[in-house]
Amino acid sequence: MNQLSLAPRVGRAQFSTERAQAGLLQRQGPVSAPLTSMLDRANGWLKGQSKATVPVRFEVDDQGETPPALHDDESYRLTVSNDGVRISAPRLAGARHALATLVQISNHCGHLPLGHIEDAPSFPWRGLMLDPARRFLSLDALLVTLDAMALCKLNVLHLHLTDDQGFRFQSRAYPKLASAESYSRRELRTLVTVAAERGIRVIPELDVPGHATSWLSAHPEWGPRRSPVPPSSRFGPHEAVLNPIDPAFQDAIDTLVGELADVFPDRFIHLGGDEVNPAWWNESSEIAAYMAHHDLGSPAALQAQFRALLAATAARHGKRIIGWDEALDGGAPATMVVQSWRGATARGRALAAGHDCVVSSGYYLDLLYPADVHHAYGPDAPEEELLVLEDALLVDPRFNHVAAGLKWTQGWRQPAPSPGAGKVLGGEACLWSELVSEELLPVRLWSRMPLVADRFWSNQPAPDDFGGWLEASLNHLAAAGIVDVPHASRTLLRRFGVKERQLPAVALLEPIKWYGRLLGQAALEARMGGQEMPQSRPYGTDSPLDRPVDALLPESLAARRFGELLAEGGAPLLDECTRLLDICAAEDFIPELMPPIANLRLILQTVVDVATGRLGQAEALQRIAKASGPSGEYIVAIAPPVLAWLEAP
Ligand code: ACM
Repeated sequence: MNQLSLAPRVGRAQFSTERAQAGLLQRQGPVSAPLTSMLDRANGWLKGQSKATVPVRFEVDDQGETPPALHDDESYRLTVSNDGVRISAPRLAGARHALATLVQISNHCGHLPLGHIEDAPSFPWRGLMLDPARRFLSLDALLVTLDAMALCKLNVLHLHLTDDQGFRFQSRAYPKLASAESYSRRELRTLVTVAAERGIRVIPELDVPGHATSWLSAHPEWGPRRSPVPPSSRFGPHEAVLNPIDPAFQDAIDTLVGELADVFPDRFIHLGGDEVNPAWWNESSEIAAYMAHHDLGSPAALQAQFRALLAATAARHGKRIIGWDEALDGGAPATMVVQSWRGATARGRALAAGHDCVVSSGYYLDLLYPADVHHAYGPDAPEEELLVLEDALLVDPRFNHVAAGLKWTQGWRQPAPSPGAGKVLGGEACLWSELVSEELLPVRLWSRMPLVADRFWSNQPAPDDFGGWLEASLNHLAAAGIVDVPHASRTLLRRFGVKERQLPAVALLEPIKWYGRLLGQAALEARMGGQEMPQSRPYGTDSPLDRPVDALLPESLAARRFGELLAEGGAPLLDECTRLLDICAAEDFIPELMPPIANLRLILQTVVDVATGRLGQAEALQRIAKASGPSGEYIVAIAPPVLAWLEAP
């Protein structure tokens, strides 16, 4: 009873089974304007409450409405008694989280049980990175995201505003930079205000000096070649790189950081720095002369010098920089926060070099992993533990089809020389959006984000009933009227060519994992074979994302339930297999679904044949092996649980 399937779970909690209160929350005594609007928002998220009201008394020491900041005290105490609710918190942030907890409990139970909670976050930085640069996200989509973040007690929205394919900030000084779809300053100010009301900091990112095709197609003079660069709609590595020693570009960065500082009050600004291809630097005689003159022995050293300039520029505008972990390759100013993304050892290297670190490795939601994989990573877990988790993916049957690619990423491993003085500030989930459009956000983001949010808040291992907890976390978002993940997936599947009666079978499929879809077959095979990858990719910014594979949940909830039925066995299992086999037998699926549905059919028939004693284990395993590989971009999500069932003694 104590945890009530909350996501995130709360700290110390005691609840009685006694039903205490039900109804909308009504403030008692004088309450400041920010608290009143928080209470109104919470009431908007309470579903189907009776006309009754529950009195709420606030004891908030500091009701000052300053913008949220790193290391704010976000703790709270919550008591539900027969007299109503009492919320005590040092600051507004805690009161806000207390209300989010109340909403989840009330929607989950239909009432508030008598009880007491003392709660505080494990990490001060609990973030989400969205990538509107690859595919634009409207202000409305971002505002919905903020509500869902608030319910999950997340407190940082990092906006990746620029990349090869798009530049999404309308600069006053450099109007040519902005893509056709971009944010006005007014929109961004609205975003910042709404976020602050929900206790969320917004951090903009200008990704420099690489990932810069959009910059150079507007201002070719800022690149080492100074020649026209066509805009790009393709994905994969680009050569375009800005010229870090060009005074006009350095002035532009100063101006742009100033313009962003004018809109985003947060202390931090993200200045990218990932995946720089130095080819254009290497061919420039001007850069070669500069490097010789300044005794810079490598492109990494040149980038390190540029990073120091960025840090100084940001500091002039009152900002501290955060950047991707490539900063470790050439060195970075001590005050820079490092966002680690290239595996567990990047975090160790950042801390060893004395940098505070935001951990994103383990939390890349675009890799289409199930929630338990992300949740297993603790941002501050010992490095040995994280390496074991990374290794475990290579032998996890759910990732067989991309195991060689996962192995390739272990080439990033570089153990740190020694433990250091840096601190883990928290974690940030990243949703890179090559294959994510706005309408796919529920299925691609919120399908797993609530449980990642739990890791960042509670930092506890997962509960035993992971599947039940995952579904409860999605129910919380749906009950609050914010995002209904399973409903969104079904609606999109219907729109993308799946008939109503086919849904139960199609829901047992998942998209292939890791970068399988993005790289495509040819590049994937080259990567596995250790060869140079071809640059062509199956998708670009103009590829429609309107096929069933786009709408499928990264983690099939139906497959989890099927796994439970397998454990149960008997008539319910056989009935379900028969129902699903009937659907598959109709063979009226759109063509791309026919091969994965044929695999599904083979697996279901195998279960029936084994369960009815008509097939032995060895033959059954052979059949499953044949049907468990990817068909195009699909895999059958019940293959791993069926395999485990067959192999169980
Ligand atoms: C990254 O994923 N390139 C930071």
